[in-house]
Amino acid sequence: MSNRPYYIAGNWKMHMTRAGAAELAKALAGALKGGRHKYLLAPSFTLIETVAPILKGTNIRLGAQNMAPEEQGAHTGEVSVLQLKDLGVETVILGHSERRHSYGEEDALINKKVKLALAHGLEVILCIGELLSEREAGRAEAVCEAQTVAGLAGVAAADLDRVVIAYEPVWAIGTGKTATPEDAGAIHAFVRKVIARLYGGDAADRIIIQYGGSVKPDNAAALMAKEDIDGALVGGASLKVDTFTPIALFG
Ligand code: PGA
Repeated sequence: MSNRPYYIAGNWKMHMTRAGAAELAKALAGALKGGRHKYLLAPSFTLIETVAPILKGTNIRLGAQNMAPEEQGAHTGEVSVLQLKDLGVETVILGHSERRHSYGEEDALINKKVKLALAHGLEVILCIGELLSEREAGRAEAVCEAQTVAGLAGVAAADLDRVVIAYEPVWAIGTGKTATPEDAGAIHAFVRKVIARLYGGDAADRIIIQYGGSVKPDNAAALMAKEDIDGALVGGASLKVDTFTPIALFG
């Protein structure tokens, strides 16, 4: 057993408007009260101000799903770290596969965002993960290593305690296909070795590595039972109290 806490995060993606978001946040705040793990909800930008007062004082952190690589300025359509902090955001998800593959975000851009978020005191969930074609070509480890190394380039060891890695094989996101606990656990162990090489064994021991990709109540416990799987980044199943709560309260 590791000493790492479990960290279970809900990524609401581009779902809901204010009334539904408030209702779900209230219900989850109630359901997770007394939960033993670390929790996060990441609503869309337009919902953050609605959800923030509901999560305040609870055991659920407030997150955002993305952030601009610049602090402020002429960047039409972007949302800045200062604007997120102003709303009480504590954590930002960066490099999600939908950002990488639907919106063309590359490692260098993601790395810029990671460094900016950390410089402003935010916690970062850095997402990594291979495409199906990359897995089939035997390149899953190489892709995850490259994304980890590039995403963390220039990040000081002192800041690594505010970094969480989310391993999300792209072929498992929103598809209902989950990596087996063995396959996922193997990549987690591999990524931890990459962190050990970059930051030393103690840092590697401490870093939280979440699994994401079709995590559901019926597969969450088996995934998180793996030594190197320290939690989950949950999309679809985070949109309902009945499906997120059993994942969050597992164990
Ligand atoms: P999913 O999404 O649980 O709906 O597969 C996970 C994610 O993209 O973070």
